[in-house]
Amino acid sequence: MPHPFSLADRVDRVKPSFTLEMTSKAAELRAQGIDIVNFSVGEPDFNTPENIRTAAKKAMDDGFTKYTSGAGMIDLREAICTKLKRENNLEYSTNQILVSNGEKQSLYLACQALFQSGDQVIVFSPYWVSFPEFVTLSEAEPIIVSTNPEKQFEPDFDDLESKISEKIKGVIINSPSNPTGGVWSNEAVDKLLKLASENGWIVISDECYERLIFDGDFTSTQTLNKYNVEVLTCMSLSKTYAMTGWRIGYSAGNETIIKAMSKIQGQATSCANSIGQKAATEALNGDQSAVVVMRETFQRRRDLILGLLKDIPHVTCVEPKGAFYVFPDFSHYLGMKTELKSIHDSFDLCDYLLETARVVTVPGDGFGAQGHIRISFATDSDTIKDGMERIKTALQKLN
Ligand SMILES: Cc1ncc(COP(=O)(O)O)c(C=O)c1O
Repeated sequence: MPHPFSLADRVDRVKPSFTLEMTSKAAELRAQGIDIVNFSVGEPDFNTPENIRTAAKKAMDDGFTKYTSGAGMIDLREAICTKLKRENNLEYSTNQILVSNGEKQSLYLACQALFQSGDQVIVFSPYWVSFPEFVTLSEAEPIIVSTNPEKQFEPDFDDLESKISEKIKGVIINSPSNPTGGVWSNEAVDKLLKLASENGWIVISDECYERLIFDGDFTSTQTLNKYNVEVLTCMSLSKTYAMTGWRIGYSAGNETIIKAMSKIQGQATSCANSIGQKAATEALNGDQSAVVVMRETFQRRRDLILGLLKDIPHVTCVEPKGAFYVFPDFSHYLGMKTELKSIHDSFDLCDYLLETARVVTVPGDGFGAQGHIRISFATDSDTIKDGMERIKTALQKLN
């Protein structure tokens, strides 16, 4: 008999990624032959553009199959600097860039390098599920601040100011946002940067949906930083180039922070995958036309789904200005009953939609937003029409 063991406390402190759980649930049901509409996906439904796939095949054939430098191969870091200048008007040198196994790892490393027990970190609600968990895993405490749905989920500055304390060390922002698709105005970002400067906060800006903006242009937080705030910009290849499985993301910022993150990454994973890095270099340096085509397709789908939502009684939805999610408010249906049970919260409602309509959605409660449901429109128009019709019919059966 092996000795009994116990798991470290941090396992209990962290919540599992329930968005991944919903995706697995959909896959399981499909494998059983059940006709499922999956609105839970957090990734583009397109394949990675051909020029990027070709670069990866060439990398393998050329034997580019070994470890790279820990911070990322120099060609890729140069391509990132060129991209940041070209698209975001930001000047960085290669030693201010860290390439990671997806931006998720960049964000995790940033929290590990910057925060510790006794620190507090501001996270805006509705939040991407991983933000509070990254903070908790660093042993700091997430401080949840509310936002204003009428204004693209910009911060509720009164709530923010009421929570300011000496313990706050940083703030995580995410515009365009997952789950809301909200895009903050430059004024809101400026106001936040001013507060960060007054209070000495570091700002981690998650800009993974930067190229998925539907109305107007994207402005990177650092471009608005006239206050000399320490801003760490985190970006991803995943959503822009339909490369979620390749696992390439990066951070740009203060060299000391980047070095600290790189030191931890070096001991955790050595470097990001070499073939993915070659593919990412082509993605950033090569033809960008596929990005525009994908964005325009997402925009058409957004308009379609917003129109269909208007046909569902008592549901309101803010028009998302970016990303590929709508985050409608279904609060009217809470408290209603099915033949068998009552719908108390968005978890119950999502379960009901899965059981009755065979549609997979993600409950807003998990993102800190009661009564809301996240619906991804990273799927084709016919599926969107079918899924929304199913939701409408299922809701009509509630009373
Ligand atoms: C808000 C947000 N940040 C970061 C990520 C992570 O992206 P990556 O695939 O680069 O790890 C995601 C992925 O879903 C996301 O939604």
